[in-house]
Amino acid sequence: MTVAFPEGFLWGAATAAYQVEGAAAEDGRCESIWDVFSRQPGRIANGDTGDVAADHYHLLGADLALMSGLNLNAYRFSVSWPRIVDDDGAINRKGLDFYERLVDGLLERGIRPFLTLYHWDLPQRLENRGGWADRDTAQHFADYTQIAHETLGDRVHDWTTLNEPYCAALLGYGAGVHAPGRREPRAAAAAVHHLLLAHGSARSVIGDRNSVGITLNLYPVDPADPNDQVDVDAARRVDGLQNRIFLDPVLRGAYPSDVLGDLEALGFTDHIKPGDLELIGAPLDTLGVNYYTGHHVTGRPGGHTAEWIGSEHVHAVPRGLPTTAMGWEELPEGLFRVLNRLHTEYPRLPVHITENGAAYDDVPDAHGYVEDHARRWYLERHLRAVETAIGAGVDVRGYFAWSLLDNFEWAEGYGKRFGVAHVDFDTFVRTPKLSGRWYATVARANALPE
Ligand code: FCB
Repeated sequence: MTVAFPEGFLWGAATAAYQVEGAAAEDGRCESIWDVFSRQPGRIANGDTGDVAADHYHLLGADLALMSGLNLNAYRFSVSWPRIVDDDGAINRKGLDFYERLVDGLLERGIRPFLTLYHWDLPQRLENRGGWADRDTAQHFADYTQIAHETLGDRVHDWTTLNEPYCAALLGYGAGVHAPGRREPRAAAAAVHHLLLAHGSARSVIGDRNSVGITLNLYPVDPADPNDQVDVDAARRVDGLQNRIFLDPVLRGAYPSDVLGDLEALGFTDHIKPGDLELIGAPLDTLGVNYYTGHHVTGRPGGHTAEWIGSEHVHAVPRGLPTTAMGWEELPEGLFRVLNRLHTEYPRLPVHITENGAAYDDVPDAHGYVEDHARRWYLERHLRAVETAIGAGVDVRGYFAWSLLDNFEWAEGYGKRFGVAHVDFDTFVRTPKLSGRWYATVARANALPE
């Protein structure tokens, strides 16, 4: 049976500035925490950096053509803060020009731009003053939002404040595996609140003229042994730090009380000032959901230690599911569970799947073509879960494959490829993979095949 999606459903692909642009020191771009972090020995696999990335900054025309060829009607990208605001806090016109060319190019091709303001590339000058552990960073973010919105707000309708504040705060300041590489649980807790404050402040800067959302990476979390209270409590804590610490303040205007208890020793509540939660909880137009896998956890020794701040005794337990090259378990029904949870437990609002996809060990042929059946199946199975959620009444408006093209996968460097188009990192030639060709037919039909 052919499965049709609602009329007007958005078929997109996503990227992020530092992962694709390159041109790290061009046209006045300043340093971000990822530039500094990736230069530190031992941080990134193979010593890779994002200096050149997929060279998207120079290959914009080719990438716009690639998107048209894939029949996309939406494209999610992020703006690099240090590209458009210089180290004195002034506008960098040349940097903004790049995003104007991108947005105009998208609109000419009938591709709707989805702009993310923060996909982890904090200007290093702000990290030097404390980064997200410092409350002032939220105000700087609001100032940057103003600059971006004044220039692009007339052409970009869909604005996302933050991408995955979980990773920015907990992986960046807690586990130290993302920039800025700090392992300071108290700073990580502070960063959670200051990122959310930045979200709320940016939301109010953009106002009602355009659509505003936030993108969260959400996971179904299951106890390894549902009859073991230790595992059940571990699942509660992981769900708290991974999902609810972001969902609740944004959608209900309050932090979950059990999570406040878990974080008490880290001074979390000291950062919450009067008025913050009103700002953070201001109504949104959409929620962005990034989905890759689920968590299966125990509070008992054994399994793999997960680097949860404040929950050091939580371990991930593999459950024998197929895994991607990232080692992430494939759990398509988990996407349905996440969407259904939003629908049943939170005030309802439209949802966009802002990222979903998988890395596999691609083997290109002599022409750069990759027959990535595994990725095509991954996408199809997750899209069927989206369709089931829509059938259950969840208002899903669009889906963005991660990613448009192979790129700099953070701590993994270029070794982990997520693209539906292959990138030859010597020539920078892009070649749609089998999954990309398949996705193009689905996008054109607005339906999954039989
Ligand atoms: C998400 C990030 C995105 C990409 C995918 C694989 O956490 O938002 O940039 O790296 O994972």
